Amino acid sequence: MSDDRNKGGRQRSENVTWHVGSVTREAREERRGHRGAVLWFTGLSASGKSTLAVEVDKRLFALGHFSYVLDGDNVRHGLNGDLGFTPDHRMENIRRVGEVAKLFAESGALVLTAFISPYSEDRDRVRELVTRPTDFVEVHVSCPVEVCEARDPKGLYKKARAGEIPNFTGIDAPYEQPEAAELTVETNLHDVETCAAQVIEFLMEHGYISNEPRLHAANG
Ligand code: ADX
Repeated sequence: MSDDRNKGGRQRSENVTWHVGSVTREAREERRGHRGAVLWFTGLSASGKSTLAVEVDKRLFALGHFSYVLDGDNVRHGLNGDLGFTPDHRMENIRRVGEVAKLFAESGALVLTAFISPYSEDRDRVRELVTRPTDFVEVHVSCPVEVCEARDPKGLYKKARAGEIPNFTGIDAPYEQPEAAELTVETNLHDVETCAAQVIEFLMEHGYISNEPRLHAANG
């Protein structure tokens, strides 16, 4: 990792004080009927992160839960529109998204993030950032680069091969595989429905959500 990644140009805000609210996280979770958490989908471009996150979101919504997707392409249109794809910009991308995701989890939401997040160090920093160790659920959306390249839904691998997109993950920029992801789904072997079911099953098995639908809840 280059030194540039650690310079970051980050400024410290001065004379600011953390303001504590009076509604606790536990009270919010109690009302929602499930835990807040960050489901961190990581994988190559075209591995299926966004598709899977959207499908899981749909299922959580149908179960009456409060979830929301933060997607790399979308967040880079706004909040992170000033960032490119150098290692230090990717680090800043993941740092900001990590902070936002943490706030979502504190609000009692199940936030689903879909970012390539190719560097283990950046992902681990978010793991350290969240309040409770179990708030961070790393989901490796695993798919061989050859399969992602054959899918190429946005034509980006083709452009990268032609030298039109420098630093393209999997071509001339690295993807560091998670070594201890809470869950791995293999999108080259299973369809999106099966992978989404695996995520929902994980959430139920580990007590993030119950298996009772909450559609009756008026205030969830
Ligand atoms: S990350 O590496 O910083 O986590 P992020 O998930 O936000 O990346 O954005 C990835 C998306 O940006 C890809 O799905 C693709 O559409 C687009 N993209 C543009 N340039 C690159 C590049 N050099 N490497 C990877 N993705 C790129």
